Amino acid sequence: MNGTLKSLILFLSSLLVSVSALAASDAAFPDGWDSWPIHHSGQILGKDTAIPADLPPIVQETMKTYNWVGDGKGTAYNVRINPSQKAGAYADAPTAVLELIDIKVLLVTEHLLGEPQYGAYTMDKQEISGAHPSLAPATCTSCHSGYGEACITGVCNK
Ligand code: HEC
Repeated sequence: MNGTLKSLILFLSSLLVSVSALAASDAAFPDGWDSWPIHHSGQILGKDTAIPADLPPIVQETMKTYNWVGDGKGTAYNVRINPSQKAGAYADAPTAVLELIDIKVLLVTEHLLGEPQYGAYTMDKQEISGAHPSLAPATCTSCHSGYGEACITGVCNK
């Protein structure tokens, strides 16, 4: 292959990789998630609800980031953990979902070589991480690894 063509192909394939990194979920849809045990439940507050000042900073930031969901009314959620995953020693597999009950969306964490990967899907498996900036994997990563010990290996619940 001639050199110019080869570098053009390399350039195009690197472009494709970076575009998909921006637009796509890094975690796959976790089949069987609805049989995972519920670790605990909570509520993302709507945009008209004052965020209690005594909540930990990461939780306050989470409320601010997602208060637009459900037309600004927020949503109830379940944290579900894959029972085959061992906390702190995650295998290459789906790890947990944040089940956003009222809006029927799953935020997904899986592990690959010990590193957390993130994704966002509707419950009927449509990929939606490109639908809003707060659903992009880079946003998930910045919060899930930006609060010191609040999250361990990319997993935040206690
Ligand atoms: C601004 C901070 C913040 C952002 C952004 C964020 N999360 Fe989280 N996430 C949290 C917090 C805090 C919890 C723990 C909630 C609880 O324990 O009730 C959590 C919980 C989770 C859980 C349940 C397992 C765990 O880690 O506790 C999953 C799965 C999850 N998030 C995935 C995602 C995905 C995917 C994205 C991006 C689309 C995302 N999160 C964006 C803060 C954030």
